Amino acid sequence: MVASSTSNETARSPITTYLDALLDHHAGLEGGEVASYIPELASADPSLFGICLTTVDGSIYEAGDTRTPFTIQSMSKPLTYGLALEQLGEQVVRSRVGVEPSGDAFNEISLTPMTGAPLNPMINAGAIACAGLVDGDDPFATIIETYSRYAGRSLELDEAVYRSESETGHRNRAIVHLLRNFGVVSGDPEHAVDLYFRQCAISVDCSDLAAIAATLANGGINPLTGERAVSEKVVRGVLSVMTTCGMYDSAGEWLLSVGLPAKSGVSGGVIAVLPGKLGIGVFSPKLDERGNSVRGIAVCRDLSRDLSLHLIAPGSRLAPPIRSSYRVGEIGSKRVRHGDERAKLLEGSDRTAVFELQGELNFMSLEAVSRAVTKRDPCPELVLLDLRRVNRIDRSGAEFSSALGSFLDQRGGKLVFSCADLLEPIIPPAMAFPDLDAALEWCEEELLFRIRGDSEPRAIPLELHELLQGLSPRELGRLSSHLEAVNAKAGALIVRAGEPAAQIFLVISGSLSVLLRAENQPDLRLSTLTAGMTFGEIAYIDGPCARPTCVPTRTSSA
Ligand code: DON
Repeated sequence: MVASSTSNETARSPITTYLDALLDHHAGLEGGEVASYIPELASADPSLFGICLTTVDGSIYEAGDTRTPFTIQSMSKPLTYGLALEQLGEQVVRSRVGVEPSGDAFNEISLTPMTGAPLNPMINAGAIACAGLVDGDDPFATIIETYSRYAGRSLELDEAVYRSESETGHRNRAIVHLLRNFGVVSGDPEHAVDLYFRQCAISVDCSDLAAIAATLANGGINPLTGERAVSEKVVRGVLSVMTTCGMYDSAGEWLLSVGLPAKSGVSGGVIAVLPGKLGIGVFSPKLDERGNSVRGIAVCRDLSRDLSLHLIAPGSRLAPPIRSSYRVGEIGSKRVRHGDERAKLLEGSDRTAVFELQGELNFMSLEAVSRAVTKRDPCPELVLLDLRRVNRIDRSGAEFSSALGSFLDQRGGKLVFSCADLLEPIIPPAMAFPDLDAALEWCEEELLFRIRGDSEPRAIPLELHELLQGLSPRELGRLSSHLEAVNAKAGALIVRAGEPAAQIFLVISGSLSVLLRAENQPDLRLSTLTAGMTFGEIAYIDGPCARPTCVPTRTSSA
């Protein structure tokens, strides 16, 4: 969903009002110079100023000149670094380019003594080395297609800026030849530096910057198109070097005052990323002496302060991972239980624990669950984790779920999950069910089995059916001659939804379920009945009505 489009036709919101005010406030900031060492950049209009925020759920908020094109310049560096990591893996890339902040200017020749490896991929030397690593028949096509996936639209090369830098970029040429000398760049050094000049000259606008940043914030998937630009694993590496090296010789000051992984470019753009939440793009061409946009830095500083975006947020607390907890028997499945079963479930409920979890299933949520489980004496045997409100399981969540499952298993217990579609692959040694109802029913059956040693629904003689209690043997005999036996296999339909309700079914063995069935949707269970229970009597009380679908869940007789 797009919350606001261009600033001209923006749907008003308190957020766009805030961005407009921020823009107004910093429009008066006049320091800095437009970059001119690439001649074509010198003609940029110094008054241009745009701010754009894009959230990981795809809302865009923008103010000012957010649709004016400029070249991506150094903001390309994290994207090509990510591409090289994706294509060649961390080991190969790390053997050519380090990850240590240089503390030097962007064009400094900061190479590791002896190996000649550039200190990091955010300075020119490291970025040129990364461009040289990009694989394929047409590496530039791969680069521009990758950037386009980040931006969510088809990007193009600004030929004039490319030619301008290619004709004047002697320092970068010197760097690439040095890299060739050390074997950091293999093959034709001109090829690597030419790719680098081209990637820097890809044309974007401020809203593209925010989309690129939001894609990184969103684990590599563009939140506007849903297309993956880079794998989640690579995003971690990219954001890490953006945090330590993205702002060159002001990286430390930036981390302190803004606290976000970021990258600037000499065209005047800045991207900043709040992982899992949003991406920021700011554009204003005048640069400070370190080559960073003067207004861009000021805006990011204010955004971080006003919106509390700093990554290091001491004192902040997430919502508690356990939303509610109860025991099996206190809240039942849709299976209708006889009074004695209900009593047994309540009696044994201490042997169980159900946790309704929320947010991300990770180490912290498993720590809370483990604590609640182990502080009970004796430990519950059946632990059900309800994942309906869990949006993601991270690696630590999977690992510690598995550890909790083993812990319970060794004590004769069981870990059970509901809404298990998130569990891919299913975490052994746990039981996983598609919904809470099915998971609760399994726990109830297991608990009853543990209490009384049987799990099969009982079969009863007709005269013990609850509906027939109080009849004399003669009345029972007369009624029996009017009854017809129905034997149905598991899954067979006994009554179809909408059929007139003209019969009463007395269940004497097995179980049957009443389901709501809709096309292309899983059945929704309304209830399950077992021996001694009745189906269809409501029609005789309320008058004829249409029935829901009714199928036996176990071979059933009525
Ligand atoms: O290599 C250069 O000098 C430019 N193509 C890019 C430098 C740049 O954007 C530095 N960032 N602030």
